[in-house]
Amino acid sequence: MRIGVDHYPEQWDRSLWEKDAELMAKTGVRVVRIGEFAWSKLEPRDGEFDFEWLDEVIAIFERFSIGVVMCAPTNCPPLWFYKAHPEAVQVGPDGVRIQTGIRGHRCINSPIFLAYAKRITEQLIRRYAGRKIIIAWQLDNELEAYPCTCEVCKDKFRSWLSDRYDNIEAVNKAFGNSVWSLGYSDFCEVEPPTAYPKAWQNPALCMDWYRFINDCLYSYIKELSIVIRKEDPKVPLTTNTWLCENAPDFYKLFDNLDFVSYDNYPALTIPKDPEEFYSHAFHLDLMRGVKEQSFWVMEQLSGATGSWTPMSPTPRPGMIMGYGLQAIAHGADTVVHFRWRTAVSGAEMHWHGLIDHSNVPGRRFFEFSELCKTVSKLKVLENTQMISEIAILYSPENDQAFKIQPQTEGFYYLEQLKYFHAAFTRYGANIDVVSPESDLSRYKLVVAPTMYIGDKKASENIYRYVIQGGTLVLTNRSGVKDENNNCVMDTLPASYKELIGAEISEYDPIGAQEQTIRDFAGNEFVCRQWCDILQPTTARAYAEYNDNFYRCCPAVTMNRYCGGVAYYVGTVCKSDFYESFASNLMKQTGIPRLKGLPRGVEVTTRTNGLDDFIFFFNNSDAHVTIPLPKPMYSIIDSVGKDKLELGPFEVDIVRK
Ligand code: GAL
Repeated sequence: MRIGVDHYPEQWDRSLWEKDAELMAKTGVRVVRIGEFAWSKLEPRDGEFDFEWLDEVIAIFERFSIGVVMCAPTNCPPLWFYKAHPEAVQVGPDGVRIQTGIRGHRCINSPIFLAYAKRITEQLIRRYAGRKIIIAWQLDNELEAYPCTCEVCKDKFRSWLSDRYDNIEAVNKAFGNSVWSLGYSDFCEVEPPTAYPKAWQNPALCMDWYRFINDCLYSYIKELSIVIRKEDPKVPLTTNTWLCENAPDFYKLFDNLDFVSYDNYPALTIPKDPEEFYSHAFHLDLMRGVKEQSFWVMEQLSGATGSWTPMSPTPRPGMIMGYGLQAIAHGADTVVHFRWRTAVSGAEMHWHGLIDHSNVPGRRFFEFSELCKTVSKLKVLENTQMISEIAILYSPENDQAFKIQPQTEGFYYLEQLKYFHAAFTRYGANIDVVSPESDLSRYKLVVAPTMYIGDKKASENIYRYVIQGGTLVLTNRSGVKDENNNCVMDTLPASYKELIGAEISEYDPIGAQEQTIRDFAGNEFVCRQWCDILQPTTARAYAEYNDNFYRCCPAVTMNRYCGGVAYYVGTVCKSDFYESFASNLMKQTGIPRLKGLPRGVEVTTRTNGLDDFIFFFNNSDAHVTIPLPKPMYSIIDSVGKDKLELGPFEVDIVRK
C-alpha cells in the first residue's frame, strides 16, 4: 500500500526540487507522478529535446527512493506543433476547429499528431527504459470519448462503418435511415453527430459514433503502449480516467493496459437530502471491476477544488485521511494525491493541492502526513483482495444510450446502479461492479439494471447465470433496443420476458410525479420516473402499484427459472425500497447482513485467504458508535476493541 503525490517540477523553481523531494520522503510519500503536461519543456522546438532537467528530477527522486510514475505528455502538444500543423487540432461537433491555449485539444486520429506523440514517447522511454525507480507509465491524461469531427475523423468513421457493415445499404438498414430522408447513397455522405441536441439526431448513428470513438481511443493507447513496451516490455502501463459526461468505455480503454488508475474527487459536502448520493464507494467499486483487480487512484482530492467552476469548500478535517483509506478499502493499492503544491500560475491555480500557494504546510498537509504514517502500517494488507458475493452490472453502452435519449425527468442510468449499491452498502457487503460479460458464476446475487441495448453475449451470460442457479435482479428499460439502438418490435422486455416470466403490457413514463407501490408484506414505497405495467406469465408479484389505471398490477415480480430466480423491478423507487429489497434478497441468497449500521458507515473486507481485514469508514459528518459482535484487533490503533467510535470521515480496520 503506497501513498503518492502528483507533481509538476517544471512549474517550480529548480531551487525547490530537492527540498520538495526531501519533504516528500520525510512525510512518507512513496510515489510521485511527473511529466504529465511537460511536452513543451521536453521538446521546446520541433525535434530539439531537452531531458537534462528531467534527468535531474528523476535522479533526485531516486536519491530519496520515491518511485516515479512517468507520463507520456501527449495530452498537451506544444504550441509550435499546433502552429505548424493546425489540422491536428480537434474540431468540435459544431464543425469549428477548437482554439488552442488550453489543453487536450489534439486530435488523437491525426497522423501527424500520432507521429509526434510517438516520437516524444519513444525519446522518453529510450532514455529511461529499465530505470528501477520508474515504477509505471501513464499514457496521456483523462481520455474522454470526446468527439473530434475533423476530416480525418470523418473519413476514419466512414471506413469504420464500411468495415462493420460492408455496404451502405446495410448502414441505412442498421440506422433506420428511412426516417426523415436520412438514407445515404454513398459513404461520403456520412457525417458524425452534430452540435444539435442529441434528441434530434439518429440514436443509431450516435451509438455507432460512440463505439467508433472508443475504438479510436483503444488504438491510440495501443500505439503508445507498443512504443513503450518495445523498449521496456515489463514496465506497467496505465492511463488515468474519471467518470465524466463523455466517459469512455472503461473496459476497452484499459484492455491493453496493465492496471486501472482513477482520478478520485469525492464529495466535499455531505448533502442534507438522504436521496442524494455522495459516497464515492460506487465509483471505486466500478474502477476495481474494470479489470477485476486492484487499481490505483492517480489523482486524489487534496484541497478545495475549482478553477473552471466556483471553488468548493475545503476538505473537512478527516476527509484527507478518510477518503484516502476509503479508496484502499475498495481495492486501491496506491493512492496518489493531486497535487503536492497548489499551482501559483495557470488556469488551475485554484484547484488546491496538499500545500497552499504560501508553500507553508498546513492542516491538510499534516493530515496527509498522518495518512502516510497510517498506510505504512498496512503492510498486512499487501496481497489481499476483495471477494464479493454481489455484482452490479455496468454497461458503457447502456450508460451512453441514456445520454443519447434521456427517458423521463429524473431518470439516470447510473442512479439505478447507485441505488442498489447504496442499499447493499447499508448491510456491509462487498460489492463488485463489473461488465455484463463478466463471469457471473461466482456471485450469489447479480443486479442487472436497465439492460437497454441489445447485447447477445450479455443476455446469454445473464440467462446462463440464472439457469445455473443464480439470483438475478433485472430492472425497467431492459430488452428495449436492438444492438443498433433501435427499438425492437416485440413485447417488452423482449429477449428477457421468458427469464422474468412476465410481459409489459404498457408503460407509464411518469417522470417526477410520485406514486406508491406496496410489497407482499404490505410495506409502501414511493415510486417515480417509470412504471412498467407487468402481466405475469409464470412470475409472482413481489410488489404492486397502488395508483392509477394499473392499480393492483405488479410493479416488481419474482420468477423461478430453471435452477435460479429472476426478479424484475419495473419502476424506480427511493432508497427505502432498495434497502428493504436488498435485505430480502440477501436473506434469501444467504449473504450475511450487518444490521444496524449507522447511516453513512461503509464496511468492506479485504482478505488474503487466511485473515479478513474489515474496514469501517464513517462517510458522514456525525460521530458514530459501532458495537462489534466480538472483540477485534484494530490494525490502525494496535489494540483490541469491542466497539468502534468513529468521528466524521474516520476509518478503522479490524482483523476478523
Ligand atoms: C483532473 C486532471 C488534472 C487536473 C485535475 C484538477 O481532471 O487530470 O490534470 O486538471 O483534474 O483540475
